[in-house]
Amino acid sequence: MGGWTEGYVGGIDYIRAVYRDWSPAMLCFALTLRGWRPPEALRRGCFTMAEPGCGHGLTSALLAGALPAARFEAMDFNPSHIVGVRRLADDAGLANATFLEESFAEYARREGPMLDVVALHGVWSWVSAENRAVLLDTLRRRLAPGGVVFVSYNALPGTLVHMPLRRLLVERCADGDGPLPDRIARAVEFASRMAAQGGGWFGATDGVVERIEQLRHKSPNYIAHEYLNGDWTAFYHADVARELAAAKLEFAGAAVPMEQLHDLSLSPAQQALAAESQDPAQEETLRDVMTNRSFRRDLFVKGGERLGRAERRMLLGGTRFTLLVAADDLPEVASTPVGRLPFPRALYRPLGEALAERPQSLDALLACPALAAQGEEAVLRALTLLTSLSLAAPIMPEDGLSERQASSDRFNAAVLDRHRFGDTPGQLASALLGAGVPVSRIEALFLLAARLEEEPAAFAWRHLSADGLRLGRDGERFEGDEANRAELDRRHAAFAQRRLPLLKRLGVA
Ligand SMILES: C[S@@+](CC[C@H](N)C(=O)[O-])C[C@H]1O[C@@H](n2cnc3c(N)ncnc32)[C@H](O)[C@@H]1O
Repeated sequence: MGGWTEGYVGGIDYIRAVYRDWSPAMLCFALTLRGWRPPEALRRGCFTMAEPGCGHGLTSALLAGALPAARFEAMDFNPSHIVGVRRLADDAGLANATFLEESFAEYARREGPMLDVVALHGVWSWVSAENRAVLLDTLRRRLAPGGVVFVSYNALPGTLVHMPLRRLLVERCADGDGPLPDRIARAVEFASRMAAQGGGWFGATDGVVERIEQLRHKSPNYIAHEYLNGDWTAFYHADVARELAAAKLEFAGAAVPMEQLHDLSLSPAQQALAAESQDPAQEETLRDVMTNRSFRRDLFVKGGERLGRAERRMLLGGTRFTLLVAADDLPEVASTPVGRLPFPRALYRPLGEALAERPQSLDALLACPALAAQGEEAVLRALTLLTSLSLAAPIMPEDGLSERQASSDRFNAAVLDRHRFGDTPGQLASALLGAGVPVSRIEALFLLAARLEEEPAAFAWRHLSADGLRLGRDGERFEGDEANRAELDRRHAAFAQRRLPLLKRLGVA
């Protein structure tokens, strides 16, 4: 691959994904919840954001489509990551996003506007200490006062148990020939055969067999970029916090709102132990030790402003939310990273129904008698859980909605058109959310058929069959045009009844 990869895995692209964690409304909610004043530029949607190591750049592209008053700089040194997103940006007429094929070091030498947000997802643990220092320098020079950094990384102590697995994969992939995806598949298969023997590390470590089994279903692209880089460092939160302090950054809280609810994962006695620490970085690290945390998504602020109790309450009260599923699709028990949580009907039913009717602020929700009876703390907690589990979302202010809608429509037209030939980006831009809404390829084809005034099932089948695809249900494959079109007809009826009203409410259909 030549010398440009700087120890990073080469010759294989990363997976294509869109993330919601650093969309402005989510950032504002997470910050306000933790008692930080969200930057005004973020609240109004007219900020400047950078995404170093953006991979295929789809999150920045989608945010640029949804938020035309904001500006985006996304950068990655892998040309095959940048080429596709530049084409998407051209097709969608994105004038507010630049996609740079540059290394972190090249980007650091570039002059540019001050940044309000920097998103570092899947980067910090996977690059060298030298490259982290370069990124830190960029943050020091270019992040505006009040600016926010989103950073994810493999965390300690939870990652410790996975270290032998990474070593095993690195060794086995190096020891063989043929294309990298084949070597990865053979390495995972080998790890699985070793695990089947039990004993040693496999026997002594909970969850290893399951982890290897999960890897069998992951793409080689994910496995390569997660495990096969020359650098792969897991961090204690305290070390990340102390490193970022050199760029005047202070830990502002977990980016995923429910991770701020410590009682979900810690007993009262454990919470009290963590609270004995005077140092917030140490306190957070103690919690990670007690929960054996293996991955973190953190927010840091540069000169962030603390909110008083009353102002925090006022800002939370004015935050508006919408539901991302049909009200009767809210589960009664939710599977979460910290286990199964009950969603009591007395609270979640009126909450779901109110939010499905129209976006509502916390204050407006509390004016509804059934929710007032539950109490403010319970309703806010429910909103915190729902937003973290992608069942609800905070929304952008009314101001600028028509501009956002026009830009989102343009972006979505380009995205839908691509679904004739594939299924990425797999998300549409929502002017309401200022973020993405996932759609399957079939849903995208139905939406495209409606725009083109074509018969939906026949249109979808024409494109799916051109790719050699067939539909299936309950483990059975449909054979022939007629059976597949009939299945698509059935799916379109269900789509029109359940999904379409939701997609319309979110402004993407
Ligand atoms: C694990 S991927 C994460 C991609 C994306 N942020 C995401 O989360 O989907 C890390 C990305 O960083 C890029 N990268 C690694 N080292 C880099 C460097 N020195 N300069 C620029 N990009 C780099 C890789 O090409 C890769 O796309």
